[in-house]
Amino acid sequence: MLDAPMFDPKDLRNAFGCLPTGVTVVSMIDEAGKPTGVTVGSFTSLSMSPALCLFSLGKAQASARLFKEGVPFVVNVLSTELADLAWQFAKPLEDKCEGVALAETLVQAPRLKDAIAHFACHAHAIHDGGDHIIVVGEILDYDHTEGDALIFYRGQMQAPAPL
Ligand SMILES: Cc1cc2nc3c(=O)[nH]c(=O)nc-3n(C[C@H](O)[C@H](O)[C@H](O)COP(=O)(O)O)c2cc1C
Repeated sequence: MLDAPMFDPKDLRNAFGCLPTGVTVVSMIDEAGKPTGVTVGSFTSLSMSPALCLFSLGKAQASARLFKEGVPFVVNVLSTELADLAWQFAKPLEDKCEGVALAETLVQAPRLKDAIAHFACHAHAIHDGGDHIIVVGEILDYDHTEGDALIFYRGQMQAPAPL
């Protein structure tokens, strides 16, 4: 078997960054019962029936322990007006939800009121993905509204531009 090639991680990250992603905040309740969340660009749809979605999370991320335990969560799709929230949830803050408007959902996890789509999920499966875990969620409830999705492309927040 061939040895795994050693790539420069920064360059590999730049190569991955050639493909734009949407920007979401995955919100949940921590062990102390406090709302928290993490900015996630790896969210994608997976299955229609059953309704499944997935995202990947670095094993070294502080929040990874919650997902390994199967915590319920909400995927909040951010609009171009919510770029500040994307940066806020990407920092290791004591209270990530400070100043954020939250609402209850069907699952034991809050949603961000201003997001343009919400997917309330139970953990369906956790898979190994190298230095990441792949979190598969079963969608128990969702909604969506008007608004332009925030895009992350080549290391910058952007707005979608029609051709
Ligand atoms: C636009 C954007 C997308 C991100 N996507 C992911 C992702 O898909 N997976 C991941 O593990 N970290 C991602 N991050 C980094 C995490 O949001 C960041 O490391 C965060 O501090 C982790 O939170 P935690 O320390 O509470 O776990 C992203 C950051 C940004 C700004």
